[in-house]
Amino acid sequence: MKFSTRADKIEPFYVMEVAKAAQQLAKEVANGPEPMIFLNIGEPDFTAPAQVQQAASACIAQGSTQYTNALGLEALREAISAWYQSRFGVDVPAQRIVITAGASAALQLACLALIEPGDEILMPDPSYPCNRHFVSAAEGTAKLIPTGAAERYQLSAEQVAAHWGEQTRGVLLASPSNPTGTSIDPAELRRIHEVVKARGGITIVDEIYLGLSYEEAFGHSALAISDDIISINSFSKYFNMTGWRLGWMVVPEAMVPVVERMAQNLFICASTISQHAALACFTPESIATFEARRAEFKARRDYFLPALKELGFGIDVMPDGAFYAWADCTPLCEKLGVKDSWEFAYALMEKAHLAITPGRDFGTADTARYVRFSTANSMEQLQEAVRRMQQLFK
Ligand SMILES: Cc1ncc(COP(=O)(O)O)c(C=O)c1O
Repeated sequence: MKFSTRADKIEPFYVMEVAKAAQQLAKEVANGPEPMIFLNIGEPDFTAPAQVQQAASACIAQGSTQYTNALGLEALREAISAWYQSRFGVDVPAQRIVITAGASAALQLACLALIEPGDEILMPDPSYPCNRHFVSAAEGTAKLIPTGAAERYQLSAEQVAAHWGEQTRGVLLASPSNPTGTSIDPAELRRIHEVVKARGGITIVDEIYLGLSYEEAFGHSALAISDDIISINSFSKYFNMTGWRLGWMVVPEAMVPVVERMAQNLFICASTISQHAALACFTPESIATFEARRAEFKARRDYFLPALKELGFGIDVMPDGAFYAWADCTPLCEKLGVKDSWEFAYALMEKAHLAITPGRDFGTADTARYVRFSTANSMEQLQEAVRRMQQLFK
């Protein structure tokens, strides 16, 4: 069978190999003294609160399960608009909010609506691998630009200007970022957007982890900067609803009918049941639950990051959001007799039964030195992971 060049350009997820090996080993060691601890998972260990689950059941019981409008339930778009006002102090009219099947569908719609074949989109290295694949699925090219701790692993306006070429159409950023958990300084983002706008380009900011921000200096939506910025968001992370497949995007007014037309044809609508259930996310009780969980994620970060440093990992910059630690494992590779982060991840899995993610999928610049830990796991498991690493690196 012959497959499209487009399909061939989507690279495999190498980390899935590590994840599969970890799952296999987990079965073997499940009843031993050290069962596998999974620190490779990019999703909250919490589920949707009870009120949200009940709202989904009620929706099914009442038979409110027909398609919705392609842009999403009006009430949900209004609820998200009100949340932007109360949580971030930004005025985002409901008409500019499009409900999608997760951030993933929003990213696809944004890329398909804006990218012509051959267009180039600038992105930081390291970054979330799927984002460059959304660009290539739209027959564009993701140009990865190496970043470092000094820029919080984000692009600077200077870099965007320097790398802007004939084919460049815009930038796709994620703030806070996966895999680093670091955000763009709002003042720098404003400068980036100025550079992009001056060249007639587009700024897309993936803000899927914005709800999980821990520092006042960084926890601001890009939408406060300009109505031209396209912001991608989701119920997956802050709202703990990964498998419900629900997200949204905020687009400039002129883009709404374009996205509506595409969404009607490509998806019809996001899950009706998930949309009705998500309305229950915005009650004071649910928000209190999400805020308590955000505090828990922060407490885990505050424990785990210094502990990694103490163990000998290089932590160049403290994450300000999400639930990841991007750690330089080169100082410890020698101790385990391995040459890079890929082998290090396997060694940690086999010797300490800790599943982590090697840097390889997130870019090419420096990723052989880095691994990603996820702190979306209980404090007890994180403490046990640290104990096992102390033993291993002794
Ligand atoms: C940066 C980033 N963007 C988008 C997504 C996709 O999220 P969703 O579940 O909303 O499709 C993820 C998932 O991990 C992510 O880390």
